[in-house]
Amino acid sequence: MAYVITETCVGVKDASCVVVCPVECIISTGTEPFMIIDPDECIDCGACVTECPVNAIYPEDTVPPGLETWTDLNREYLTLGSPGFPAKYQTMIEAAKAKNRTSPHANATWYAS
Ligand code: F3S
Ligand code: F3S
Repeated sequence: MAYVITETCVGVKDASCVVVCPVECIISTGTEPFMIIDPDECIDCGACVTECPVNAIYPEDTVPPGLETWTDLNREYLTLGSPGFPAKYQTMIEAAKAKNRTSPHANATWYAS
């Protein structure tokens, strides 16, 4: 099992989670507006969960209904890479970004264009 970053991270990308991860398995997706967790490196310590201001992080087996595809996205970011990764998940990412636009934690950097 591993922990998974889900849709509320999109457009926020607070990065507080990165600081507390003891194995540095939370990865910035370059120009994408969110982070992912490398499921093969995550040791399930859970330290990242309470750091996230938008409650984006869940254990893989308790990801809420409707967000299951984010488990695939976290894993496939590393296996598909770009451009396969963004193409496959672009609709889902854009929908999450639009949904989070009004979040008090939204980062203007990701909404500049
Ligand atoms: Fe790191 Fe969170 Fe896993 S802190 S080890 S990504 S549970
Ligand atoms: Fe995203 Fe929350 Fe980390 S917004 S970058 S999962 S602290």
